[in-house]
Amino acid sequence: MLGPVLLAAARSDRMRRVVAAAPVTRPVVRRFVAGDALDPALAAVRTLTAGGLDVTLDHLGEDVTDRATAHATRDAYLRMLETLRDERLGDRAEVSVKLSAFGQALPDGGHDIALAGVRRVAELATAVGTTVTLDMEDHTTVDSTLAVLRELRREHPGTGAVLQSYLFRTEDDVRALAAEGSRVRLVKGAYREPASVAYQDRKEVDKAYVRALRTLFAGDGYPMVGSHDPRMIAIAQELAARSHRAPGRYEFQMLYGVRTAEQRRLADAGERMRIYVPYGADWYGYFMRRLAERPANLTFFLRSFAPAR
Ligand code: FDA
Repeated sequence: MLGPVLLAAARSDRMRRVVAAAPVTRPVVRRFVAGDALDPALAAVRTLTAGGLDVTLDHLGEDVTDRATAHATRDAYLRMLETLRDERLGDRAEVSVKLSAFGQALPDGGHDIALAGVRRVAELATAVGTTVTLDMEDHTTVDSTLAVLRELRREHPGTGAVLQSYLFRTEDDVRALAAEGSRVRLVKGAYREPASVAYQDRKEVDKAYVRALRTLFAGDGYPMVGSHDPRMIAIAQELAARSHRAPGRYEFQMLYGVRTAEQRRLADAGERMRIYVPYGADWYGYFMRRLAERPANLTFFLRSFAPAR
């Protein structure tokens, strides 16, 4: 029951001010966010890649409402990619972007502003030898995000998309994207969605996830299994074996700080394992979604407010 409350709070400016200002928040945030700036995030990336894990870097930010901030997001990604080039990390690190941070929701031409910004990022990513994956946000953004994907894939065919199994429409979207060369990260979905567009029951979301996995593994694309759920991971491995896909023709992805022992186990077993590494000052929405996913995270967070005895 707490999940929806937290997801509503994730979009509340008032809550953002309260939570972000609380001195006890930082240590808890650090579990999920690799740092306030690029430098500490790079330290995390070096450690992960030295241990045989791949990464996708996310410069935190979302729901941008002015052009200047949208441009600042683009510039932060360009700096990130220049650093990946200088550190020769292009083959281990790709980048994830949220189009709302590139201005997708701006009232006048938001879609085109976001497309122009992310196109610059995709160009540099291609030059550096890496790829961009478009994160998926709430259901009102899916059409625009998939349109940006189609546009980018003309010149940058490695551009990836995220599909969320909780949305009814995803079965069709998965079928359309399970095509040659298409990189699709399948996730369950992290936003608060109405019953008119999304399954509300976790079991239904899981069943839809398995159906989508089947379609992806039967297709000619590159499945990216974005889940920490042991059942989904086992089913993906089974589907990979059945479709004679070796690791490297699909991959697993997990979030920084979540089920780290399982990340290690899969990498040690020879799987390609990519960690989603978020960094930046605007961590509030991302952090609240991580709390909403797991009640134990919230308990941990609330306990940190208790006075020391
Ligand atoms: P589920 O929620 O059933 O969790 C399975 C188990 O994993 C739990 O029992 C627990 O052990 C562990 N676990 C899961 N979440 C945890 C947490 N926050 N803290 C601690 N343990 C946790 N969503 C979206 O809408 N758009 C997107 O673009 C993305 N991008 C994305 C990238 C990557 C790499 C991942 C892994 C996930 C996303 N997501 C996302 C988030 C996704 O939609 C989903 O909310 C979470 O992955 C949780 O779902 P699981 O599949 O892990 O299963």
